Amino acid sequence: MATDIYYFSGTGNSLHLARELKKRIPEAELIPIASLLKGNVVKTSAETVGFVFPVHLMMAPKPVRTFLEKLDLQADYTFAVATRGGSRTRAFADLEKILKKHGKSLDSYFILNMANNDPKFENWHQTTESEMAKLESELQNRLNLVENVVRNKEKYKEEDTYFKVQTPFFSVISPILPVLNRFFNIEFYSDSKCSGCGTCEKVCLSGKIKMVDEKPVWQDDVQCYFCNACLNYCPQRAVQIKSKLLLKSYTTENERYHHPEVTADDIAGQK
Ligand SMILES: Cc1cc2nc3c(=O)[nH]c(=O)nc-3n(C[C@H](O)[C@H](O)[C@H](O)COP(=O)(O)O)c2cc1C
Ligand code: SF4
Ligand code: SF4
Repeated sequence: MATDIYYFSGTGNSLHLARELKKRIPEAELIPIASLLKGNVVKTSAETVGFVFPVHLMMAPKPVRTFLEKLDLQADYTFAVATRGGSRTRAFADLEKILKKHGKSLDSYFILNMANNDPKFENWHQTTESEMAKLESELQNRLNLVENVVRNKEKYKEEDTYFKVQTPFFSVISPILPVLNRFFNIEFYSDSKCSGCGTCEKVCLSGKIKMVDEKPVWQDDVQCYFCNACLNYCPQRAVQIKSKLLLKSYTTENERYHHPEVTADDIAGQK
């Protein structure tokens, strides 16, 4: 069966998952969403079409939603796999809404827990090797299910078991989280540890970072995808996040995370 798997990944979790899925469905083509965001319509004639992406603020990342809006698909089977660090997600409801406009819906979807790549929270800790091993073993088990469901074109809609009781709260709060982010004026900067290596510019999927006089500049007129690639791939741990409103820096004390098998070149290769 012709299968296209479109993926988006800031720090390698979703790319790792997409690669592992391809090992199981070798005929699948892995296509980076970041490479398709500039044109108007994206056409796919594959029978089976899948989407692999991280959960951002409980939703599908903005570039993934933008991509879906312009996807012209003929598929008779569609599926989605979201990777997350550990909170509830309403990503699939968002995707279904967009696909419905094109007369389509998701036949199956799955939520896979992976390491959290967002070190801006105080209680965040870098996932340890033993935690990574456990997550990887769970991932491989869950991919058995994904493979079977997709190969047999079954219906499968995974129930989200996180924070079930708080569902109404999250449904209300998650769409306004990006607005809150803007309100608190959250932005990236590089501190004095920066060596001018240019890795942040290389991995930046939106093109927001430009090196100027050997220092990264986050350009105001380019939209950030909040993928955290710049933050987590900087070899000097020099990229930080601050709130200009609260005059607070969030990341100076924390370690960083990217998937151990996904390099900065792999991330940049999505462009
Ligand atoms: C801006 C941002 C927001 C995130 N929001 C959530 C969230 O709401 N829930 C969650 O479980 N994980 C969240 N995460 C963690 C990622 O979903 C998770 O680490 C994912 O596997 C990263 O995939 P990637 O490496 O392919 O980018 C967030 C990460 C980022 C960068
Ligand atoms: S990746 Fe880090 S060290 Fe390299 S240019 Fe960017 S901020 Fe500086
Ligand atoms: S500035 Fe950083 S977080 Fe924003 S798109 Fe570029 S790499 Fe991703």
